Amino acid sequence: MATVTQILQERLQNALQAVGIKSDEPLQLAPTMDPRHGDYQTNAAMVMGKKVKENPRTLASRIVANLSTKGIGPPPEVAGPGFINFRISPEFLAHRVHELALDKRLGVEPVAAPKTIVIDFSSPNIAKPMHVGHIRSTNLGDALARVARFLGHQVITDNHLGDWGTQFGKVIYGWKRLLNRATLDSDPMEELVRIYREADAAAEKDPEILGECRRELVKLQEGDIENRRIWQRCVDLSKAEFSKNYDLLGVRFDFQLGESFYNAELPGVVQELQDRGLAEASEGAIVVWDHELSDDPFIVRKSDGGFGYATTDVATIEYRYRQWHADAVWYVVGAPQNLHFQQLFSLTRRLGYDLDLQHIAFGSILGEDRKLMRTRSGESVPLRALLEEAVGRATAIVAEKNPELSERERSAIGRIVGIGAIKYADLSQHRMTDYVFSWDKMLSLQGNTAPYLQNAYVRSRSIFRKLDAAFVAPSSVELGEEPELALTKKILQFPDVVPAILDGFKPNILANYLYELAAQFHGFYESCPVLSAEPVKRETRLLLCDVFARLLQTGLDLLGIQVPDKM
Ligand code: ARG
Repeated sequence: MATVTQILQERLQNALQAVGIKSDEPLQLAPTMDPRHGDYQTNAAMVMGKKVKENPRTLASRIVANLSTKGIGPPPEVAGPGFINFRISPEFLAHRVHELALDKRLGVEPVAAPKTIVIDFSSPNIAKPMHVGHIRSTNLGDALARVARFLGHQVITDNHLGDWGTQFGKVIYGWKRLLNRATLDSDPMEELVRIYREADAAAEKDPEILGECRRELVKLQEGDIENRRIWQRCVDLSKAEFSKNYDLLGVRFDFQLGESFYNAELPGVVQELQDRGLAEASEGAIVVWDHELSDDPFIVRKSDGGFGYATTDVATIEYRYRQWHADAVWYVVGAPQNLHFQQLFSLTRRLGYDLDLQHIAFGSILGEDRKLMRTRSGESVPLRALLEEAVGRATAIVAEKNPELSERERSAIGRIVGIGAIKYADLSQHRMTDYVFSWDKMLSLQGNTAPYLQNAYVRSRSIFRKLDAAFVAPSSVELGEEPELALTKKILQFPDVVPAILDGFKPNILANYLYELAAQFHGFYESCPVLSAEPVKRETRLLLCDVFARLLQTGLDLLGIQVPDKM
């Protein structure tokens, strides 16, 4: 079923044609912010008026005279400098919301041409703990994967673990000389980080030790049995630790092919680049130039003969293309890697790959002091501690609100609310915005937060527990009261909102939509009695409650956020 915007777009296009105007792109037509301007508005006459040099108001009147809104609402009106405003009739709203209620997909059409999309996200480095900086990539990548899947794309999620960096020289050096086995058993991550830091500090002071670390790295790269074994242990321990975070967050990957997976391919990649004249020798290294992008080269083989991050990413693209038949690869990685991805994408184009490559960047999470979020001792905040604190704080709030809940129920709800709060605080911001991490704000039951939305869900569901029998959608819907109409109008925007998320990769538009939707629901719920209303009204209102709950649950699920059934 077409969305309301699509239906109006089509009528608008027909009217434009009737007045002899051709536009190649669909013109902007969207819900209004202010109900005084109708329900939907377009600036088409202003945009086209400028193009064809006609007074926008005159053009708007000509368009309106040729625009049929039969079955949808009263004739549109011309307003201000040439806006065209549409109003939707209660009958059309009733008919549409009824249709949406009967649709399992809540009116969201699958895309006409599904693509195979690889999403590369989270991707922490082995032997370093995940920290607050990984929240954004992990949440954003997971949400985009959910949305793309819901829209019918074939999605492959891949955690491109950093398991082959130069840090392993120091980790292995530290493992052989500084390791404390007892701490390794009790807190493996802490111990791995400690030996790395100590080796790093020692190498900094003593060139002899730096040389040792380099030799350990070369031995690892050459396949030395002992070093491989130590490396594998580090990978396994780190992955086990990362899984705890992913389990708490409810994030899963189809693949976790780390950088090391591509090792064997790297010499061939560099050879191919050289054979095709794309890479050349420079100061002992092999590099690719793109002077339009930067005066810094893209280094595919270092002067010491080693391959790095860049070469691995080229091999990874080839693999994803050949093995998975990817049409698109989305990299959800922080903004500082912008140049790396521009260089990588430009090289991939020159290699002739027909691939849609996207770097989905994001801003930083700040502490209350508006500086990059740090612990008191100045280190980056470990992710697990943060997630556990969220669950702890939410559980305490739930317990205070509902003293009658059992211990188990409290912690189950606390987890849904706490993790939801962290995710929502993140995803409700535009991804490029730097935002301040605030427990009080994100856990508040008031305002644009996960707990507010989860509470609205619980409220809308609780009414159904008072019914004697399971709710069945009525055969028709009748809308009258203003709050019913306002809620319905908001509901009908959902099928337009979901696909729009992938335009610019902005889950925040869904988050903010859900918030506005919940506000409309509260307005409706406060002024329209449901169970005590006369039969037709009662059935309609129950249907609105049910659709609202399903929309909210589906929408939050697309953001990777769960809903509790009590709170
Ligand atoms: N491990 C990298 C880092 O921590 C991120 C990897 C992103 N993905 C990629 N294919 N380059 O910076």
